[in-house]
Amino acid sequence: MTIQLIDITKSYGNHVVLNGITQEIEDGEFFVILGPSGEGKSTLLKVIAGIERPDKGKIIVNGKDMTNLPPEKRNIAMVFQNYALYPNMSVYDNIAFPLKMRKMKKEEIKERVMRVAKLLGIQDILDKNVLKISGGQQQRVAIARALVRDPVFFLLDEPLSNLDARTRFVARGELKRIQKEVGKTFIYVTHDQKEAMSLATRIAVLHKGKFEQVGKPLDLYEYPKTKWVAQFIGDFPMNFLPGNYIGEDPNVEVGFRPEWTELGSGIKAVVDSMEAFGESLYLFCTVDEKFKVILPSKEWHDVGDVVKFEIKKYRKYKDGVLSE
Ligand SMILES: Nc1ncnc2c1ncn2[C@@H]1O[C@H](COP(=O)(O)OP(=O)(O)OP(=O)(O)O)[C@@H](O)[C@H]1O
Ligand SMILES: [Mg+2]
Repeated sequence: MTIQLIDITKSYGNHVVLNGITQEIEDGEFFVILGPSGEGKSTLLKVIAGIERPDKGKIIVNGKDMTNLPPEKRNIAMVFQNYALYPNMSVYDNIAFPLKMRKMKKEEIKERVMRVAKLLGIQDILDKNVLKISGGQQQRVAIARALVRDPVFFLLDEPLSNLDARTRFVARGELKRIQKEVGKTFIYVTHDQKEAMSLATRIAVLHKGKFEQVGKPLDLYEYPKTKWVAQFIGDFPMNFLPGNYIGEDPNVEVGFRPEWTELGSGIKAVVDSMEAFGESLYLFCTVDEKFKVILPSKEWHDVGDVVKFEIKKYRKYKDGVLSE
């Protein structure tokens, strides 16, 4: 099921939200659209689902133009952030609802509901009212309801954001397993780079109405195309210093991840603060009273300490763009 987005453009009034997005999504991909709040992620999903119409552009699925089809004719399942479950209905009835709407036979409905309930591990709560189950269970019910229709592909809009950190971590693993088992294309939206890195086969970084970079998670981490992506991807933003600090042209900037450095000798930095993440320590430092850098450390340091660091690996950026 190949999905082609061609020059998708959408404005609200004179606010251009999507500015000519062209992208192909391959069959079976877990394609994650990543971007900060307000960049147009939900708008793009709604355009693909047919809930919003693009001002310009086309959506082609398996060679067929869907741009003018109403949502119900697209056979796409969408899972929203708030799950949009039918309140005061049982889990079973929620999952069965789209099939009842299609006037499917009772036995077939039952068979399908049982199959997805098993896949999601919610067989034991089918009789419960959806308002009386946990957030994690509600999220599974919403996914089950989407799965049961056997759609051509899935759109998921931050479906895990209502869960607490630990449940979210477990749910991520489950989502990945489910996607593998059903073997269908998922287009998944999130503002959380960590979530994107752990779920995606490919990530598209949405910024200023365009996909600023599309690639495999580790490629984005290793070779961010722009300074903006470099500072958005990663638990810490990439560090930047003028090139002359390491014998490069002063017109280029060198970008380096904290773990691409080694403390001991080299460039001087003053420690502003320190943070511990489990066993790892990170020093937040300033170089020459001007440039902020984050460095990993094996030892505790006091605020005001002077440390020295070497850059073991770096990328070069010219005018904010990766230059080689
Ligand atoms: N129906 C609408 N009318 C006018 N403006 C809208 C409408 N829907 C969205 N917008 C605007 O379009 C921009 C993109 O909104 P969208 O909901 O797509 O962002 P998002 O990336 O999903 O954000 P979030 O991460 O907060 O969910 C925002 O500035 C929003 O205010
Ligand atoms: Mg949104």
